[in-house]
Amino acid sequence: MMLKVRNLIKDYKTGFFRKKVRVLHDVSFSVNEGEIYGFVGPNGAGKTTTFKAVLGFCSITGGSIEIMGKPLGDAELRRHIGYLPENPYFYDYLTGEELLRYMGGLHGISGGQLQKRVEGLLEKVGMSKDRRVQLRNYSKGMLQRIGLAQALINDGDFLILDEPMSGLDPIGQREINDLILEQKREGKTILLSSHILYNVEALCDRVGVIIKGRVVKEGELGELLKEIQTDYELLLDGVDESIRERLDGLDITLENKAGMVALRFNEDIKPAVLQRVMELKADIVSLQPRRKSLEELFVEETMKS
Ligand SMILES: Nc1ncnc2c1ncn2[C@@H]1O[C@H](COP(=O)(O)OP(=O)(O)OP(=O)(O)O)[C@@H](O)[C@H]1O
Ligand SMILES: [Mg+2]
Repeated sequence: MMLKVRNLIKDYKTGFFRKKVRVLHDVSFSVNEGEIYGFVGPNGAGKTTTFKAVLGFCSITGGSIEIMGKPLGDAELRRHIGYLPENPYFYDYLTGEELLRYMGGLHGISGGQLQKRVEGLLEKVGMSKDRRVQLRNYSKGMLQRIGLAQALINDGDFLILDEPMSGLDPIGQREINDLILEQKREGKTILLSSHILYNVEALCDRVGVIIKGRVVKEGELGELLKEIQTDYELLLDGVDESIRERLDGLDITLENKAGMVALRFNEDIKPAVLQRVMELKADIVSLQPRRKSLEELFVEETMKS
């Protein structure tokens, strides 16, 4: 197991009176070796804070964190971790190449080895051409790519990527997506956060959903999606809205859609709805599961909490 986080609690003290604010209430999840783990949740849920705690960048109030079976604080661990921060670019007067050299230096890499590593990474992320441009003149996509390169500078086994796709156009997202998959193929373990559901779907083996500082769902992506794949949409032709009366007693919503009628309902009444529709001799155009987005799930879960 690469990472095991158990019942993590984090309080911040804010403001003049150092008022205590609990940001992480109960965060438990684990990342297996060699997998891509997606940490998803709405803004302010505590993703970045959890990552910072895992990296040892902030103290924790309670709970435990183990990386590769070792408790946090083991100095050896830092060598094995690559990190793409959410807002990484304090040093925006540096060029892309200088940033990589600087970060390599922090990891104790130097001389010919550093040169080789920097060349290779600039090539890998497609930034060789713009290596001498200052970061402040990079586009968002270029920043994300150079950011990923600096996360790879120490060739760590464990990559922690905070919103690696944020602000990228579809092509940029796909490029980062491919780079991350390539890292997985090379045997790395990846923990990433993202709001972008289809990226998470394309990439992640397992997912944790964090809401208001609590991990409310965790598991294999397929299982999680199955869970939220409960609604169906049945498209009918040759009927009008008066069909509602004849479906009386069934919990459906009804909408006009391109001259047809769409019925939406839950899994458990699917047989009843289909039977009734058959009896009414309505023309069935399609029956499709409606996958709720994770965002929808977040809203649901947030309402609950
Ligand atoms: N240094 C800090 N002091 C006080 N509160 C903080 C601090 N850092 C974060 N917070 C609060 O902790 C909560 C969680 O923030 P965090 O950045 O972890 O969320 P996130 O899930 O990464 O959100 P986003 O999707 O917007 O990046 C927020 O309410 C934030 O205001
Ligand atoms: Mg964040």
